[in-house]
Amino acid sequence: MPPHAAPVAEHHPEPQLGLTFPDGFTWGAATSAYQIEGAAKEDGRGDSVWDTFCREPGRVRDGDTGEVAADHYHRYPSDLDLMKDLGLHSYRFSIAWPRVIPDGAGPVNQRGLDFYRRLIDGLHERDIVPMATLFHWDLPQSLQDRGGWESRDVAFRFADYAEAVFNALGDRVPNWLTINEPKTVVQNGYLSGVHAPGLVDPDAAYVVAHHLALGHGLAVNAFRASGVSARIGPALNLHPTYPADDSDGARAAALIEDGYENRLYLDPIFRGEYPADVMADLGPDSHLAKVIREGDLDIISGPVDLLAVQYYCPLYFNAQRRLTPRWPTSEAFWQQIYPDGMYDLLTRVNRDYGPVPISITENGIPTPDALAEDGTVDDAGRVTFLREHFAAAHRAIESGVKLESYHVWSLLDNFEWQEGYGQRWGLVYIDYASQRRILKRSARWFRDVIARNGV
Ligand code: FCB
Repeated sequence: MPPHAAPVAEHHPEPQLGLTFPDGFTWGAATSAYQIEGAAKEDGRGDSVWDTFCREPGRVRDGDTGEVAADHYHRYPSDLDLMKDLGLHSYRFSIAWPRVIPDGAGPVNQRGLDFYRRLIDGLHERDIVPMATLFHWDLPQSLQDRGGWESRDVAFRFADYAEAVFNALGDRVPNWLTINEPKTVVQNGYLSGVHAPGLVDPDAAYVVAHHLALGHGLAVNAFRASGVSARIGPALNLHPTYPADDSDGARAAALIEDGYENRLYLDPIFRGEYPADVMADLGPDSHLAKVIREGDLDIISGPVDLLAVQYYCPLYFNAQRRLTPRWPTSEAFWQQIYPDGMYDLLTRVNRDYGPVPISITENGIPTPDALAEDGTVDDAGRVTFLREHFAAAHRAIESGVKLESYHVWSLLDNFEWQEGYGQRWGLVYIDYASQRRILKRSARWFRDVIARNGV
């Protein structure tokens, strides 16, 4: 059991910190299409790289797949009621490219778009503001067959898809996000290979980084051209990096790793350039250096309206550039629980790239949740984790960060990629056998936080 998960009785009064957020602060929760929707073969949806990846033996724990997931595609009306019941102001979800353009390029599948129209209408009916991500890793398989994000063409196909979505739904969604965590695609999809498409190919990885950035920029251009009056920005997972000790070597390691973890994704968008130290580290003949064409960085750095930040943990590096964990972990081996990291990250991003409106679009923890005989789920560890992170965000606001909103990952337990259903990240417990939804202790607590606008 992780250190924060000591069981406490459900009726135990939750401690309060006496912190109130600014008026109008927006509280929400986040999900993504492949992780919750299921209905993988319905209404004309095409295969994505994750469908393929799940079919490959040994890729996902216990052979789990997203074919049914939380069955949200069918249960979205009651899931919307649940969001209303929690008092969510905002709901961040993603649109599945393979539902909208099943082959990645070519005709639009109206039935796919219709699902998202119904979902968005249902949010408006309940006064919940939609925040839609265009790409949360479910690349149409037919585009992967044509080279995936290694191919420059895919960035343009992404812009076509984005344009189709903006034309159909643009005005109904006030906040658009382009690409979820490009870094995870680079690192997990192409460096460690634990995510689809499951490659271990450092040369390809940084080419992919550039094409994801280009796709982002082209989608922002398409958004401006569509005339939609809403906001758009990138969704980046950022990790504050720290030296593991006092040595000069560790300090240098933390700095270059900050380049790979953060500046490689922030600088092209907010400064129109790749970080010089990362480019030097990769070398002048790197595949990344060769793939950047004239004008690309102008496209990538087209102005954005907001920055979506996803924070899970800090990273500590020793002089050998090796990760040296310092804080307690969770069921996710890569996580370290360090709320101050969120404060450091938000104030740093504001200082170096702001002022820009910031939304936290993901933050959360997996806990060993179980349905007790009395029908409750006592995820005390999640309550503690979130309370401390909300307090860190509050401190960042007091330090001048333009933080507008906070979306907890995740609304529902869901398909956690290579971990399958083995990790539970939701505020709401899913009994997968019956697809019954049960509010965890954290969901009830979060409802009070929202109602009080504070912790
Ligand atoms: C993020 C992903 C999200 C979820 C959480 C735990 O990296 O964007 O889909 O898997 O981690």
